[in-house]
Amino acid sequence: MTVTEIPTTAIPARRGTGVTLPDGTTLGVHPLHAASTDLFARFVESLSPEARYRRFFQPVPRPTERFVRPLCDVDQVRHIAWLLLAGDTPVAEVRLVASDHEPGVAELAVAVDQDWRRRGVARRALSAIGVAGAAGGVHTFTATIQADNRASAEMVRSLGLTLRFDDGVLSGRGPVPAWTGTPAEADAIRSLQAAAANRANLAEVA
Ligand SMILES: CC(C)(COP(=O)(O)OP(=O)(O)OC[C@H]1O[C@@H](n2cnc3c(N)ncnc32)[C@H](O)[C@@H]1OP(=O)(O)O)[C@@H](O)C(=O)NCCC(=O)NCCS
Repeated sequence: MTVTEIPTTAIPARRGTGVTLPDGTTLGVHPLHAASTDLFARFVESLSPEARYRRFFQPVPRPTERFVRPLCDVDQVRHIAWLLLAGDTPVAEVRLVASDHEPGVAELAVAVDQDWRRRGVARRALSAIGVAGAAGGVHTFTATIQADNRASAEMVRSLGLTLRFDDGVLSGRGPVPAWTGTPAEADAIRSLQAAAANRANLAEVA
């Protein structure tokens, strides 16, 4: 994986880290924050009703402010959340939420725009966010997947998680995927995440 500095014009006056897909396309990484609600709502609106149901485990007819705010206004430490951007357009969401009960364990969530699927976006995004999580001590990913969500089940299996049927859903668990990029790329991700956590912290103090 290649991580490069590219401009993300959707967010004025900031530059973002990019994640490069197997076909060479680079997507910008936008760590979500309190002012990202419009961008995040745009992404949710771009998903089909089925994809919204798969991702959020509930129908989301309209991404209201009340719905999107807690998904954007996160600390970027225990709750790491990114949009991936193609130019100014959000094409994927990826996040890790630390367990309250098990140190080092974080639940993953991901959704990819229909036109960007089967290009390695989910796998690469989860590998990259795994680097950010590992910097904060995350060593294990968990996932909760609807029993008939084959694409997601196969995707997390391909990352090395083991799935079991549990109370009507598939529960996945496994180590944070091995990083296949360079040390410099991992450093770029960690720097981006440290800046995002700092910004969230400052916003809270203000
Ligand atoms: C599940 C989802 C995130 C996968 O995203 P993606 O970017 O297409 O996945 P990737 O391209 O990284 O695929 C990685 C691997 O997953 C598996 N996979 C992905 N989509 C698949 C599908 N439709 N059928 C079977 N296997 C699939 C394959 O093993 C694939 O590797 P390969 O392409 O080399 O064979 C996407 O389909 C999606 O957004 N679905 C709706 C929301 C959702 O279900 N989110 C998960 C809830 S946590």
